[in-house]
Amino acid sequence: MKVKYIVFTTALVLLLSVYFLNGNTLNRNSQIKQSNEQTLPQNPLNGRIVFEQKGCIDCHSINGYGGKTAPDFGKQNFFGSDYDLISAMWNHSPQMLKQIGDKNINKQNLSEKDFRSLRYFLNFLRYLSVNGNISNGKILFNKMNCIQCHSVGKLNTKKISLNKMSVYASPLYLAQVMWNHAAKMQNMQRQSGIKIPVFKGNDFSDLSAYLESISPNGKKEKVYMSPGNPLKGEGLFKSKKCYYCHEQKHIGPDLTKYNFNKSVTEIAGMMWDHASSMDAAMTKYKISYPEFKNDEMANLISYLYFKNQSKVPGSIEEGKNLISGKGCISCHSQGNSYNAPVINKIGPFNNADSFFSELWNHLPMMEKTSYAKGKTLPKLMPSDVKSLYLYFNRKNR
Ligand code: HEC
Ligand code: HEC
Ligand code: HEC
Ligand code: HEC
Repeated sequence: MKVKYIVFTTALVLLLSVYFLNGNTLNRNSQIKQSNEQTLPQNPLNGRIVFEQKGCIDCHSINGYGGKTAPDFGKQNFFGSDYDLISAMWNHSPQMLKQIGDKNINKQNLSEKDFRSLRYFLNFLRYLSVNGNISNGKILFNKMNCIQCHSVGKLNTKKISLNKMSVYASPLYLAQVMWNHAAKMQNMQRQSGIKIPVFKGNDFSDLSAYLESISPNGKKEKVYMSPGNPLKGEGLFKSKKCYYCHEQKHIGPDLTKYNFNKSVTEIAGMMWDHASSMDAAMTKYKISYPEFKNDEMANLISYLYFKNQSKVPGSIEEGKNLISGKGCISCHSQGNSYNAPVINKIGPFNNADSFFSELWNHLPMMEKTSYAKGKTLPKLMPSDVKSLYLYFNRKNR
């Protein structure tokens, strides 16, 4: 177990090393409770420990590391947020429980804290973009006109050398430095008539990989960037005046309506592509252009990522209907022979994760009855779980 854990962690750290990591970020607490039930993680990657300890790794893998009998979360795009994870686990539980039985694995109970960590972790996989492609980066360096103003490798007195970029192993670092120089670069671009490059997809990662590969000091000790601390990012969103323009004064578009379910470098690309119009708005409203240092851009972008998680609909009314519609009442009624608490005695729960944990943990018990046998387990969509949760947490009982 111990050895396997070390192997997995090492593999994962290597895998995600595009961005990170210094040891500290791995050990911070995973989240802090916020008002309005919204929580932001401090280190979403902590969930990798639960993923291993609770045996998910025995069947599932992440980009090829781990078990091979269940979907690979790095490849199959399971990027659940709040109510998605429990719903997916519940709906796939007949297969999962069958494999658990076949493999003679102990089914693991999951606590409220486990659920929260797992949610953040699996959700975060979408955010960590893939390793850059060096040859594509080379093509982009020409195509995006970087080469007109910059040199890499051999020095060229007429051009600005990017050789010192090679020690930065994170594409996000490139994005951060470019963001800080956006005004100067774009001025020069306007004057020289060279087209301003637009970033999409993995462009930042590819360019960064190319810069890292070609520069003479490429073998020097690398400087990594943390994957981001959303909680700190929330503070930056206010202190760098993003909040002022985007939420308070509506000078910029309402970012809460955007889909930020993208990789960190794609989000950085969105910011870059609007840098010159933002800069113009800042000049107009006398706001100084925000520069970023250390892990600030990572923190800010991870905040944007977690802030706009899909808002699942649901209502108490619907929850009430589901109690009978999904057959919960067949066990949770007065005088039942299962020792199940009556519906009215259930709840309230401290938070959704503690409800998820109850639901998940009583599945094997359900398996023993016809309720959960194979195909008869009713499906629970994310909105169903939310409605049930709202119902158990209703004020007027
Ligand atoms: C014994 C093997 C096994 C274990 C252990 C296991 N799973 Fe699964 N899991 C599966 C299988 C098999 C499927 C696919 C089932 C299907 O297709 O219906 C699955 C499906 C899923 C899905 C749905 C994936 C999708 O693409 O929608 C999620 C989410 C999931 N598992 C999460 C977990 C988590 C979290 C853990 C650890 C707490 C875990 N699983 C442990 C075998 C396992
Ligand atoms: C029109 C000219 C021009 C183009 C095209 C251009 N840049 Fe720049 N770049 C600049 C200028 C000017 C600076 C600012 C240098 C300074 O502040 O001293 C700069 C700064 C940078 C820096 C910061 C360098 C440092 O050492 O801090 C990076 C990184 C960078 N550019 C990358 C790129 C990439 C990648 C591309 C192509 C996508 C690109 N640039 C395209 C003109 C350009
Ligand atoms: C002075 C006001 C102002 C400030 C401060 C500001 N923005 Fe903007 N932002 C804008 C405007 C205006 C646009 C739209 C620009 C356009 O349409 O090209 C924009 C666009 C964006 C977009 C692109 C949305 C899209 O359509 O793709 C993102 C992302 C963004 N801002 C993030 C931020 C972040 C993060 C900060 C804080 C570091 C910030 N903004 C600070 C005014 C501002
Ligand atoms: C096969 C019988 C059965 C069915 C069907 C069933 N439950 Fe349960 N449930 C139980 C039993 C028994 C318990 C007592 C805890 C335990 O032993 O796991 C329980 C406990 C719970 C708890 C924890 C209660 C507490 O206060 O700790 C919740 C929440 C819950 N069930 C929700 C549901 C929901 C929602 C449904 C319908 C989707 C459902 N159950 C369907 C038998 C069932």
